Amino acid sequence: MAKFRKIGILTSGGDAPGMNAAVRAVARKALDEGVEVVGIIGGYSGLINENIIPLTPRSVSNIISRGGTMLYTDRCLEFKTEEGMQKAIATCRAHEIDAIVALGGDGTFRGATDLTNRGIPSVGIPCTIDNDITATDYTIGFDSAMNTTMHMIDCLRDTCVSHARCNVVEVMGRDCGQIALYTALASGAVGAVVPEVPFDEKELIDRISTLARTGKRGFLVVVSEGVLTPDGQKYGEVLAKRIADGTGVETKFARLAHVVRGGSPTLRDRLTATKMGVAAVETLMEGKSNVVICEVDGKIVETDINYALIADRTYKNKLKPGDHDAFAPEQVAEMRALAERRRAEIVEAYDMLAHTSK
Ligand code: F6P
Repeated sequence: MAKFRKIGILTSGGDAPGMNAAVRAVARKALDEGVEVVGIIGGYSGLINENIIPLTPRSVSNIISRGGTMLYTDRCLEFKTEEGMQKAIATCRAHEIDAIVALGGDGTFRGATDLTNRGIPSVGIPCTIDNDITATDYTIGFDSAMNTTMHMIDCLRDTCVSHARCNVVEVMGRDCGQIALYTALASGAVGAVVPEVPFDEKELIDRISTLARTGKRGFLVVVSEGVLTPDGQKYGEVLAKRIADGTGVETKFARLAHVVRGGSPTLRDRLTATKMGVAAVETLMEGKSNVVICEVDGKIVETDINYALIADRTYKNKLKPGDHDAFAPEQVAEMRALAERRRAEIVEAYDMLAHTSK
């Protein structure tokens, strides 16, 4: 069993509901193991600027139900420089921080790897509403963001039906269409537009026209923010105008944006955050680091961070020359299979929407 005197926890990148629940679980589990715990304020910039606070069982009380992150967050560019990294390492040494648990997305994990490579063992916990980390089936925050999105769309449905209108709703997710697709399914939308699947605009406009003629009142279309027009505009707003022009149905546009990143986390997120937080501490205590805690087929597992990052690039078609060189052929095949499985899941959900949105 590895002996740690003190670990640091930080939250980095976009916040996600459930981050607080994960902070609480990491802190309480580590304290329970006799390890001191500090919170690093404002993500990696807190490491650079020595913004460190002690965490006790009481200081993480009453946060399990709160959105946002009590440790605050940042997208820190300085941490990507050698100078920034050296300051961060110096802070770890000065505060006797033996290991770091970093909560966030792929940028956060790249930071965790850099720390591990410089002698500060680090473990990542996937927190992002986008669910866009290929190595894990699930990221903390995804369920809460989807539920909030669904409630917002339900509200829009009420008013759409009253006025016989259409509402195009743009939702977050960066380049990942899962929030859009699954909330479209769950809220009975007539269509979804996501980056992963080609979209037939004419088919949707014709279908809305036919349905409106045959008595359907109220149409909802969910568009992922990652879908752009050829000249780089966000497609949702453009589509709203085209639906109005093409169908004669009055069409409104709503951008939900950051509102779905806040709010109290769902049970799913609190539970997953707790499981992953405890697993992160256990992993460090077992002497392992440079891993991200993942959920695969319902089980909590550890995945090597480098593997997770390259699996991600494999799925997102962002591979750089030589990216696969460090991996055995079976591992590369596994990454490709994972990417295929992810794509198939999205296409299957998209087909389901086509069958049910009549
Ligand atoms: O990654 C989470 C996310 O909310 C994305 O869905 C979105 O594209 C991005 O962050 C927004 O970033 P920011 O909070 O910096 O505007």
